[in-house]
Amino acid sequence: PGSKATGARGLRFEAVAPNTADQVTVPAGYSQNVVIRWGEPILRGAPAFDPEKQTARAQAGQFGYNNDFLSLLPLRGEPHRQVLVANHEYTDEVLMFRGYDPENPTREQVEIAWAAHGLSVVVVQEEHRTGRLTPVTRHPLNRRLHTTSAFELTGPAAGGALVRTSADPAGRTVLGTLNNCAGGTTPWGTTLHGEENFNQYFANGSSATDKRYGMTGGASERKWERFDKRFDLAQEPNEAHRFGWVVELDPYDPDSTPQKRTALGRFKHEAAQPRLTADGRPVVYMGDDERFDYFYKFVSSKRMKKGGSRAAREHNLTLLDEGTLYVAKLTGDSPAAELDGSGKLPNDGEFDGSGSWIPLATAGPDGAVSHVPGMTAEEVFVFTRIAGDKVGATKMDRPEDVEPSPRTGRVYVALTNNKDRGKPGKAGADEANPRNGNKHGQVLELAEHWDDPASDGFAWRLFLVAGDPEDPATYFAGFPKEKVSPISCPDNVAFDPHGNLWLSTDGNQLGSHDGLFGVATQGERRGELKQFLTVPVGAETCGPIIQDRRVLVAVQHPGEVDGASVEKPASAWPDGPGKIVRPSVVAVWRTDGRDIGV
Ligand code: FEO
Ligand code: CA
Ligand code: CA
Ligand code: CA
Repeated sequence: PGSKATGARGLRFEAVAPNTADQVTVPAGYSQNVVIRWGEPILRGAPAFDPEKQTARAQAGQFGYNNDFLSLLPLRGEPHRQVLVANHEYTDEVLMFRGYDPENPTREQVEIAWAAHGLSVVVVQEEHRTGRLTPVTRHPLNRRLHTTSAFELTGPAAGGALVRTSADPAGRTVLGTLNNCAGGTTPWGTTLHGEENFNQYFANGSSATDKRYGMTGGASERKWERFDKRFDLAQEPNEAHRFGWVVELDPYDPDSTPQKRTALGRFKHEAAQPRLTADGRPVVYMGDDERFDYFYKFVSSKRMKKGGSRAAREHNLTLLDEGTLYVAKLTGDSPAAELDGSGKLPNDGEFDGSGSWIPLATAGPDGAVSHVPGMTAEEVFVFTRIAGDKVGATKMDRPEDVEPSPRTGRVYVALTNNKDRGKPGKAGADEANPRNGNKHGQVLELAEHWDDPASDGFAWRLFLVAGDPEDPATYFAGFPKEKVSPISCPDNVAFDPHGNLWLSTDGNQLGSHDGLFGVATQGERRGELKQFLTVPVGAETCGPIIQDRRVLVAVQHPGEVDGASVEKPASAWPDGPGKIVRPSVVAVWRTDGRDIGV
């Protein structure tokens, strides 16, 4: 690493300059490999990828499309191996199928898309002395879960009238998980997966509740309703109530049925990341990624059991079924007159204030209780957004990923952007969302009272107000702005082993490609943001994982540019010119074998 490799421990690399290269660009002195691509076979019997002869059957044994959240878990007894879990958020049919006609998808194309959604579990092998990872195909833990796999509804809404359908009159077994965006990893060794923009898969929504969730009638974009009537809400009005949950997966048990945890509420779940209370109860922080939607937490009433015994694991798989769901209300401490929507700092020098957690409903062993007048507990869990509306929760600028710092307990929330803030008929700027027409987003830092994640109150401040540092309406925790990288549209968040926050972006509005950034949250370098990598044309940077010796990112939707198709690709990544673009996972490490950024 060159002479400019100064910075907080863990962030001593030469920052990557903004660019539009059609590649993954990493700092000088770092190397990379593509760990796994869309279509690579991971299950026994799955064929090699052939985009010209793709079938649903092949796809169901291959790595899915549009990798988003990633988790890496330890694998005991198998040295130098880890378990990689990936979300496959959605499909880009025009980039997957030659000659795709969006008005007339074929059954095979639709079934391939069903098989390309969902989750993958794949064991990966570490190369000696480098950060390179490669998939272990046909490992017994490898798994694909997709749109026709069985998922179990658990918790207070499971079995209720709102989730029963003609195919599942018991209201407990859902086929598929859709639009899994970000997620989380629990201290008891499971993964959490947020079902985000599930609305797009359903046709003919008509009720007021459908509308609140963005299902406003007519055909769906992918026309799945032509091939399975459950995607037509006119025929199966409750099917959409079975999506929009947090899914919990036990990646160590390949025979387990993943569970949709209804106690965590139903909305466009971006992510879910737990932190334990002092007495061992998980608290899960969660954002609803929509303009003017809310930020939530779930406080379990049950304590995690330690140890790897079967009894402990079985107990821990019930932790997210009982507890209380809360929504956040934030109050600024500066006078409204000082908040003009431009992003100019108020006179006290910070966008900050206090907050309260408003209880919505509690799920217990003998049933659930609503805390929202006029709504039953079942309604609160299924129509959680409406419960948030009724209690006056704070309308945020698209809460994306969230992560509590393992060092300080402070919770960081990426608020990615909100072009509609301040528009006629919409909420105007407030202290937590201080820019009208917000193009670049901000990062909120939340400190629970007494550092207790189960607290009903918190303090908050904006840690970053993103954009070009030369723009006066930006803020980098008070760090000198001439020394930081420009950043726009923070989306995913992660912590490295040194306690630095890492942020990946989606939708950079500064003319450069999206990327990954690291920033110190403590000490004299707090706010010193540095860019670590950029991604190819049209891609979003997802799923960052920062280990001692390795950074892992999911390069999602490379080549997703208006007008692009298989015939007219906008990107040649990762396989080169003339090859189909493939969303892929990339590992980055230091060429000299030392730890990242030290
Ligand atoms: Fe799927 Fe909110 O990003
Ligand atoms: Ca203030
Ligand atoms: Ca996201
Ligand atoms: Ca996103």
